[in-house]
Amino acid sequence: MADRREFLRTAAAGAFGLKSIGRSGGRDQGRTFADGERDPGSPAYVEDVEGLKLGGETPYGDMFIMESAPGPETVINGRRYVYFGGTGYFALHAHPEVIAAGVEAFRTYGLHSATSRTGFGNNPVLLACERMLADFFGSEEAVHFVSGYFDSLVLAQALSDRYDLAFVDETAHFSVMDGIASARKPFVTFRHRDPDDLARKLRGELKPGQRPLLMTDGVFPTFGVMAPLPDYVKILEPYGGTIAVDDCHGVGVLGENGRGTIEHFGLRMGERLIMAGTLSKAFGGHGGFVVGSRALCAKIRTLGIYPGATQSPTPAVAVSVKGIEIVKARPEMRARLWANVAAVKDGIRKLGFAMNDHPMPIVTWAMGTGEDMKKTQRALMDRGVVVAYSQYVGAPAGGVLRASIFSEHTPAHIDRLLTELARLRG
Ligand SMILES: Cc1ncc(COP(=O)(O)O)c(C=O)c1O
Repeated sequence: MADRREFLRTAAAGAFGLKSIGRSGGRDQGRTFADGERDPGSPAYVEDVEGLKLGGETPYGDMFIMESAPGPETVINGRRYVYFGGTGYFALHAHPEVIAAGVEAFRTYGLHSATSRTGFGNNPVLLACERMLADFFGSEEAVHFVSGYFDSLVLAQALSDRYDLAFVDETAHFSVMDGIASARKPFVTFRHRDPDDLARKLRGELKPGQRPLLMTDGVFPTFGVMAPLPDYVKILEPYGGTIAVDDCHGVGVLGENGRGTIEHFGLRMGERLIMAGTLSKAFGGHGGFVVGSRALCAKIRTLGIYPGATQSPTPAVAVSVKGIEIVKARPEMRARLWANVAAVKDGIRKLGFAMNDHPMPIVTWAMGTGEDMKKTQRALMDRGVVVAYSQYVGAPAGGVLRASIFSEHTPAHIDRLLTELARLRG
């Protein structure tokens, strides 16, 4: 307990460029805290920080420090919450099999190879991960790299000789925008999830004989809505265009086999419809990946990122392997997740909030002004429930409230969210 406090004080001081942070008394050593109760021995980030005001409007300050693995119940700033944040849709990040896989790989391989994959950087864990990804998604091959943030960079660069002009959804994730820019080729944006605007832009911007590339999120992270891929496929067809989907949120979750947004819509991956994902969300692991043809994967291995970036830590790749194995072997987790999503969405609708009917475990609603929503988020935290107040990409100016749903949320967790929200609504 004392060590943990010391560690957090040092970490918080470092994060804010301070020499030190004051002590908070160290009461109640060894005590466990009831659901929703504040640990008086944890660093009090508002009262206790010398020379610094961290917001001050609530007892939490404006920085959340997660002190356990993310799961349906998560410890933040010394207090255990019913947790609807983050993207750990199957709560695999602390699954005992996943942890055991990581620990074993750490013992065997250390942190990583300390050389690139064009040198001595391949190892059995990485190769197993790529084989399992190809098997999971039904592709010829897969390439794993250090972060899902690089999905669009890898796709835009690997596909650069297949297109002349790219078309990007205007609210695509930061990584899609950064990724397309890295290809050093022209691109234009089209209106968010709007096939008609896309068709107009294609007609207006493409010169005869030019080929388009469409880049989009499969699922947009703020509202959990899917891109209308079937419409896009039809629109791109006459132009011989290619669609590259960043499906970081859809993989593992959507579709009968968890293959993501493409599977959800009954489409098939191919040379014209290509996808990338992450292992850090549904799969409880780490790293980005592209699944596709042998030729596409061979091309990816010629890009700068392959020889130029250290791979994900091997324990994190081992964890990903176990995560893929679990998601594949236990489709009942997906069924439970979808049931939980329906229960939360129905419940929030009954409270009078508008709700989309996309099947993603991202439940988003607006409730008054931005200030109102910040207050609601803090009031929910006072009652032991965490949801995000989000101004992430695609959110309206005032932001939104966003609850992430996990397969491991129990009816009691969901009831708690709905009950506390109903009380706050009055
Ligand atoms: C759409 C999208 N792409 C990429 C990423 C980055 O993935 P990773 O966490 O693996 O870096 C995220 C993460 O939030 C995302 O939402």
